[in-house]
Amino acid sequence: MRVVSGIQTTGNLHLGNYLGAIRQWVAMQGALDENGGECLFFLADLHALTSGIAPSDLANSTIEMAATLLAAGIDDRSILFNQSRVPAHSELCWILQGTARMGWLNRMTQWKDKAGKNREGASVGLFTYPVLQAADILVYQATHVPVGEDQKQHLELARDVATKFNTDFGVELFPLPEPLISKAAPRIMSLRDGTAKMSKSDPSDMSRINLIDSDDLIAQKIKKSKSDADLLPDSFDALAERPEAKNLVTIYAALSDRTPQSVVEEFSGKGFGAFKPALADLAVSVLAPMRDRLVRLLDDRTAVGAELARGAARAGALAAPTLLAAQKAVGLQV
Ligand code: TYM
Repeated sequence: MRVVSGIQTTGNLHLGNYLGAIRQWVAMQGALDENGGECLFFLADLHALTSGIAPSDLANSTIEMAATLLAAGIDDRSILFNQSRVPAHSELCWILQGTARMGWLNRMTQWKDKAGKNREGASVGLFTYPVLQAADILVYQATHVPVGEDQKQHLELARDVATKFNTDFGVELFPLPEPLISKAAPRIMSLRDGTAKMSKSDPSDMSRINLIDSDDLIAQKIKKSKSDADLLPDSFDALAERPEAKNLVTIYAALSDRTPQSVVEEFSGKGFGAFKPALADLAVSVLAPMRDRLVRLLDDRTAVGAELARGAARAGALAAPTLLAAQKAVGLQV
């Protein structure tokens, strides 16, 4: 098994990233350590360029996110690095641009959402973003990619690119990567709108819990989160039409490793006046130790940078044979 996943280095890591992706990464690194295989996790700083991030923010964001991953429990059993330090990602991306089709990229919902009505004015990088993501995965011949549900379509594209490349060039170079989507938290929603996903790019900071937030801020965000005036039912399914209530129960269940059904049973007949303080206490108890480790790690940014450099050297060595094989397949090398 080879596990690969990444996070775009814009803004802060939030509870959606943690419950949807990072927590799975930490669990996988333990499982793979016992059973063999590698875990590679990276900060997608090249992808961040498509967001228009200020140059002065990019390097800071990379170090802060790397520190957050270390604080969450990523350790030496995994290879942690930033994408731009392993040039094989960009080199394979260019080769795969010849394989990916315009029609495939045109169907990507993230492209449609981000470009909006201004497609002509959007950057080419935003359009070909999923090809770089395919290269990130395929350059390690990854077998499994733990991501939140929002990345499912990009994973399908990576599988299409792998299949077409293997077929066009008559090779069996790229295995088809399997998405691993968390059952407990496939899509954590905004605290202000239960129909929009919790996102780094939401202009309202109250919409998300950042992993750097203080205890008070976490509690305040939960207290002010949107909910409804009804009581909690005795069945989770009964929350289908109450998106905010459903999201808060899902968060409670994911943070406590319980099923959403057992959570509604415990709080059945109670309102959000009772549920929110319990959720705030739970969130603080899970997130505070991680945040405290993060704050300590941020005291020594140079050490975090050194960790990334070590990871890049290990990742580069794993990527090299696949890049060479892809270059041979297309005729760039004999
Ligand atoms: P990014 O940076 O948006 O998100 C990082 C990870 O967090 C998950 N996630 C969520 N999960 C549940 N609920 C949410 N509200 C939520 N928000 C984010 C994402 O699904 C993701 O797993 N394009 C990718 C980064 C990337 C990548 C890759 C991922 C670049 N190359 C190769 C996997 C493999 C992105 O922007 O994720």
